[in-house]
Amino acid sequence: MRSCWWSLVLSICLGTNLAYASTAAVASPDRYGAETSQLILHQGGNAVDAAIATAFTLAVTYPEAGNIGGGGFMVIWFEGKPYFLDYRETAPLQASRDMYLDEDRQVIDELSLIGHLASGVPGTVMGLWQAHQRFGTLPWADLLQPAIALANQGFIVPENLQQYGGNALERYQGKTNFADYFAAMTAGHLFKQPELAATLSRIANQGAAEFYMGETASLIVAEMQRGAGFITADDLAQYQAVWREPLIFPWRDYQLVTVAPPSSGGIALSQLLGLKQLRLDDFKAQQHNSAGYVHLLAEIYKRVFADRADYLGDPAFTKVPQQELLAADYLAQRASEINPQAISATKQIRPGLESAQTTHFSIVDHAGNAVSNTYTLNLDFGSGVVVTGAGFLLNNEMDDFSIKPGVPNAFGVVGGAANAIEPGKRMLSSMTPSILVQDNEVRLVIGTPGGSTIFTSVFQVITNLYDFGMPLADAVAAPRFHHQLLPKNQLAMEPYQPLSDEVQQQLSEMGYQLHLQRWSLGDIQAIQLTDRGIEAIADPRGRGKALLIEPVATEEQSQLDGSTM
Ligand code: DON
Repeated sequence: MRSCWWSLVLSICLGTNLAYASTAAVASPDRYGAETSQLILHQGGNAVDAAIATAFTLAVTYPEAGNIGGGGFMVIWFEGKPYFLDYRETAPLQASRDMYLDEDRQVIDELSLIGHLASGVPGTVMGLWQAHQRFGTLPWADLLQPAIALANQGFIVPENLQQYGGNALERYQGKTNFADYFAAMTAGHLFKQPELAATLSRIANQGAAEFYMGETASLIVAEMQRGAGFITADDLAQYQAVWREPLIFPWRDYQLVTVAPPSSGGIALSQLLGLKQLRLDDFKAQQHNSAGYVHLLAEIYKRVFADRADYLGDPAFTKVPQQELLAADYLAQRASEINPQAISATKQIRPGLESAQTTHFSIVDHAGNAVSNTYTLNLDFGSGVVVTGAGFLLNNEMDDFSIKPGVPNAFGVVGGAANAIEPGKRMLSSMTPSILVQDNEVRLVIGTPGGSTIFTSVFQVITNLYDFGMPLADAVAAPRFHHQLLPKNQLAMEPYQPLSDEVQQQLSEMGYQLHLQRWSLGDIQAIQLTDRGIEAIADPRGRGKALLIEPVATEEQSQLDGSTM
């Protein structure tokens, strides 16, 4: 039903169904990404073309998380079928299980977070290339042009980017070359990145092979040698993105199309939806974000995080019991353990919940295809190491491994053998780019940054939409909270809007510790399609922009259009 008069005419003329050439949409974490999607869709590109161009653009204008030096996941709905592309980073071949421990087996401060040893082998360029090989329609080089222009001519630095850059300057001071490249970012002023423009031009002209085996590869290896990092020419030459079976979870009369391992996000989101469904009666009396509601969700969250810590890792290295974790009888057993009145016991306690920047965008094209893409450097600006001569930041994704059993990572989550470091292994992620499909039609495209808070944020927005009937804008803007088993009984709230005083009081009385974290919970970019039409929303927590994109009549189509009138 998201047809406009023009597309109705076009559809009838071309004998196609009404979904053809209807309004497209993008929700992007900044305006440059949104405008790039619009440009590519107007040029006749599909959702995957737009996603590739947007990802390269964000590598320029959203340097805290957009990247070519990191990795991510792309979930695609294309011509009625689901796809999942895993372009997560891998541990370098020289990496080893205890590489971040000293001789007393203590974790060496910051080693998995700052500097050359923190980086996994980047997957983004290969991922975008493989997406293009399979689904792209516009020439590869054309898709990089908006990014190259923005790197060459500069973009206006937003207020919050200058602030994040300032924090990063302090964090990396004297430890990396971050300041040489990013100290000049000033809010309201143009920021140019000529080295990055040259790198992107080489990739545009020579494809992904340039990044993994050409001059860019040599610059990465030289950078690694300068800082005693592990990534070698072999690591780069061997890197491959992987097309995997998407996880498809039936939920009510929808199908959730989402990520499988090495992300924990798809299994976790499916468990959250499944467990809540099994306890619907408990939720009936609960108002949105009331103490009873927060407690019930916390009971569900802690069980999901317990499974995450024990069972999940790279499926090439560890057997992930995906079917078992999503089986109806298992979910029923877990649901039966939930205590609606009081907090269930937590066995093990570790501190620390932090957040930073990753980036997600959602796109629906004029033909109804959709891309849900989350990619990241891990924490904002990654390892802080810029590849000298190539002008881009490298990730600090190695911290997503369990660097020592039971020791929490930067997001406070723990793990064991399933997510221990091994050469060539992908580190466990929480990224959850997802698509809800009903009767073979896309209904929701959604995702967010937020580390371990990603799937609880996506889940809360889905709940706001489909249980509380909120309009998309309200569902995204509503205050969120988070609980992840550890620290024990801790409920995290966001500075954007904490829970009400009264609800906080009630939760404290139940035994929860209310914690106001420094960062907001996520930056949701969502597109919803209902019988009323298509809507796109960028989270008010960030600097995102959402656009509805009407089809542009080509000359041929205009003539056709004119001849019918
Ligand atoms: O893959 C993961 O789960 C993390 N590296 C994502 C990091 C992230 O979302 C940071 N942003 N808030």
